[in-house]
Amino acid sequence: MLEVKELCKQYTGRDKKGRKTTIQAVDNVSFIVERNKSYALVGESGSGKSTLARLITHIEMSTSGQIKIDNKDMSKMGKRELRMKRADFQMVMQDGQSSLDPRIKIYDSIAEPIRNFSSINKKEEKEKIENLTQKVELPLEVLNRFPHELSGGQQKRICIARAISVRPKFIIFDEAVSGLDVTVRKKILDLLLRLRNELKSTYFFITHDIDVAMYIAKNILVMKDGQIVEQIENIKSFSDFKHEYSQMLIKSLLPKLPSNTQRK
Ligand SMILES: Nc1ncnc2c1ncn2[C@@H]1O[C@H](COP(=O)(O)OP(=O)(O)O)[C@@H](O)[C@H]1O
Ligand SMILES: [Mg+2]
Repeated sequence: MLEVKELCKQYTGRDKKGRKTTIQAVDNVSFIVERNKSYALVGESGSGKSTLARLITHIEMSTSGQIKIDNKDMSKMGKRELRMKRADFQMVMQDGQSSLDPRIKIYDSIAEPIRNFSSINKKEEKEKIENLTQKVELPLEVLNRFPHELSGGQQKRICIARAISVRPKFIIFDEAVSGLDVTVRKKILDLLLRLRNELKSTYFFITHDIDVAMYIAKNILVMKDGQIVEQIENIKSFSDFKHEYSQMLIKSLLPKLPSNTQRK
């Protein structure tokens, strides 16, 4: 469903001495995402994961390379077609509070993508929003509240409800469970696994935690300095990782491993 070929994104930045430099945020990245498989992209902060996500969702344009959706080059799509594809490709970000408009009630936040991408009447809309709220396991009274009145985990659930409201084929989660404490994180991950079965969406899960990556996905891409250094299909255990960078990520995890969940 998605094919990324030799994708590059450069930024112009400044080094410590204030000199102009080129940052190769995404460096010759190629991979294929097949429908109904689960993917995780793992790498340290600054490795280029979010940039890659912004390129795939067309929030930003690449410097070079190709992105194909259902065999069609994204750069050759017209505005209308791109808009339709945007509904198919949803993104859930790390910071629930800033992804939700603080002045807008939760009800209208969830309604926003529905209103953008479909035309249903108010009654159908209400039913749909209540149904989505139940799907993400929240009580209906949250709909009348503002984002700051919800906990971090609840805000996250609202962002998930928003993303799934338009029944996307593909959902990118960018550090979607980072910053949540361990028990809340586990609950959200389990919710996402249940929803995936129900929605039949393809997940592309971005995280700096290699254990989270393995919990949620079978296909793992490891990113370092803008490049995919290792790609593993159907991962079974930590020993499937061969690249020294992946091993370093695993090592950095070891002190907290006992409290973490094993892969299902
Ligand atoms: N808009 C931008 N302008 C300049 N540099 C950027 C911009 N966005 C990201 N970068 C740089 O690109 C690199 C990759 O960043 P990012 O994609 O955010 O990594 P990650 O999500 O893995 O933490 C970093 O060096 C970052 O500083
Ligand atoms: Mg990021």
